[in-house]
Amino acid sequence: MVKIAPSILSADFANLGQEVKDISASGADYIHIDVMDGIFVPNLTIGPCVIKSIRKFSDLTFDTHLMIKDPENHIQAFADAGSDIITIHYEATKHVASTLDNIRKLGKKAGISIVPATNEDVLDDLIDKLDLILVMSVNPGFGGQKFMDCQLKKITNIATKIAKSGRNIDLQVDGGINNLTAKKAKDAGADVLVAGSYIFNLPVKNVQNYAQKIQDLK
Ligand code: DX5
Ligand code: ZN
Repeated sequence: MVKIAPSILSADFANLGQEVKDISASGADYIHIDVMDGIFVPNLTIGPCVIKSIRKFSDLTFDTHLMIKDPENHIQAFADAGSDIITIHYEATKHVASTLDNIRKLGKKAGISIVPATNEDVLDDLIDKLDLILVMSVNPGFGGQKFMDCQLKKITNIATKIAKSGRNIDLQVDGGINNLTAKKAKDAGADVLVAGSYIFNLPVKNVQNYAQKIQDLK
């Protein structure tokens, strides 16, 4: 069955510890943490000290999605803060391969993400270094955007590359996931779906309502 990674970007930041605790009790598989620097993407979010603070509220995998320029300068800090998976953007650094190696040297799983305009063939020379591939199905920067159907073919092509490699690599899709687009992404070959606004934008925020949303997606 597909894994669900709720993005806490759409959680209530004034109540983040409780939100992380509640979503962890709702059938989520990973906690997806969107880190934005206002340079690689036009938005600013959180950094390592917030990740460190919420670490004690969950035993789930912390899936940290770095939308920051030159991520190689910050890998140690995000590892120390309690990330389990660290995903960098292909477009954000000249040092993709060595940064992926560093993530693994720190005992963490290494992920790479590509934005909608990047061709999936850039992954071919990196596949041995990867534990996760994240396909952005919106342009990164904000929650609540519309899923781009034009990325479905890319998901299928990457699923084929992963199968050919024989390696155990998560294929994650992020952006605009709801009960309709989840099925499209899954059918295209995704095995982890990130969802922010679909799960968290609820009039009543509690474990029961989050669990229903996660169940709908699964
Ligand atoms: C976008 C982030 C996503 C985003 C998903 O840059 O990487 O994780 O929070 O939000 P929704 O599910 O609302 O598109
Ligand atoms: Zn994300």
